[in-house]
Amino acid sequence: MEKLVIEGGVPLKGNVRISGAKNAALPLMAATLLAPGEHVLRNVPDLRDTRTLLRLMGNMGVKSRREDDVLYIDSTNLEHAEAPYELVKTMRASVLVLGPLVARLGRARVSRPGGCAIGARPIDFHIMGLEHLGVRCTLEDGYVDAVVDSELTGNVVYFDIPSVTGTENLLMAAVLAKGQTVLKNAAREPEIENLIDMLNSMGAKISGRGSDKLIIDGVESLTPADATIIPDRIEAGTYLIAIAASGGCGTVTHCNPGHLPSLLEKLRHAGLLVTETEDSITIGFPDKEGDIERHISGVDIKTAPYPGYPTDLQAQFMALMTLSGGNSVIKETIFENRFMHVAELHRMGAQIKIDGRTALVSGLGLNSLDGAQVMATDLRASSSLVIAGLAARGRTEISRIYHLERGYENLIEKLTGLGARVWKEAE
Ligand code: UD1
Repeated sequence: MEKLVIEGGVPLKGNVRISGAKNAALPLMAATLLAPGEHVLRNVPDLRDTRTLLRLMGNMGVKSRREDDVLYIDSTNLEHAEAPYELVKTMRASVLVLGPLVARLGRARVSRPGGCAIGARPIDFHIMGLEHLGVRCTLEDGYVDAVVDSELTGNVVYFDIPSVTGTENLLMAAVLAKGQTVLKNAAREPEIENLIDMLNSMGAKISGRGSDKLIIDGVESLTPADATIIPDRIEAGTYLIAIAASGGCGTVTHCNPGHLPSLLEKLRHAGLLVTETEDSITIGFPDKEGDIERHISGVDIKTAPYPGYPTDLQAQFMALMTLSGGNSVIKETIFENRFMHVAELHRMGAQIKIDGRTALVSGLGLNSLDGAQVMATDLRASSSLVIAGLAARGRTEISRIYHLERGYENLIEKLTGLGARVWKEAE
């Protein structure tokens, strides 16, 4: 096992290029199962999670090759419509193969993901939705056995809570169903728009893109896609917060500022100077009569489905708030156990109290954290520890960095490019 070592206290400066979005790449890769032939996916990040999904699809008979950031996926042969526990347990998003498999083959066997560090994370909405389309789902031996007895048929599906992968799974099943499907209270994340654009380019008929009501008129068949993954808004947000926390100034490039409405407003409320172009965001501290004022104000956040504040940027914002000059109330409404980073931030000197799903952060000012040995618990919690480590005085060691490798492409190279002192060491 390897650990990440950071010598903190260096204000980050310069440009960092944002990769394709993990959470868009996964559903778009799964969508290639819908049509036989060779698909081309561009701007695909090379991450532990994208590799896991390729392995999973490879086990089914799908062939793929990567040339730089372009993935060629040939899903002509689909022999085993099964997602085994060994792979699903390492990546819950494996459940995304369920929708396309039942649509193309009329059957699928997918291991039920267990809980994970951040919460129970059930898949009942996925199953309920598929059952509404005529899929018979049996839960046995930890697996979902899904079978279409006669025909996949359109229907109305209402989500009690907008679920991102639930909406994606239902979209991928409904595109090949007979008749019309209406998804109500659907998730509206940009990654879903990316998937809708790909499916429509393959011949699907989906309207309502960007809204919480999606209407899908089923078609007989689809053709292979040539699609581009959108930039990773969570990666972009993570670097913006890291630059601010280190007291630096820098630009994230190749991103879509329109996908980060709530974060950019919160950063501005915190007193940071944030400017946007069409595909870049620059962050720094305001210049008050020749003096750079390095001060961050306490700001409250409450996570919510898009376009609300993303839960995947909650831990990182909390790290920033420990460095503010005030108090901050952080409410997590999406997952029940997403404060795993708090105990680790305490080890670095942060003052945070938890009350249920609310964290009360008393900011101690920039440069108030001290380096420490900490443990990564999940992907985004880990990135908050990286941010804290970059801002802290002295050396921080983060163990279990495989969590980070699930979602951040070339993390060390990108941080080094911004001037950070960071490297990997054997544990
Ligand atoms: C996706 C993202 C993840 C992000 C999350 C919320 C991917 C691959 N992952 O996860 O990074 O943190 O959205 O933005 O895109 N729920 C149920 N039953 C279900 C499904 C969900 O109760 O069948 C609940 C969840 O427990 C949670 C809420 O619905 O409270 C939203 O979860 P959901 O949007 O489904 O998250 P994921 O799609 O798993």
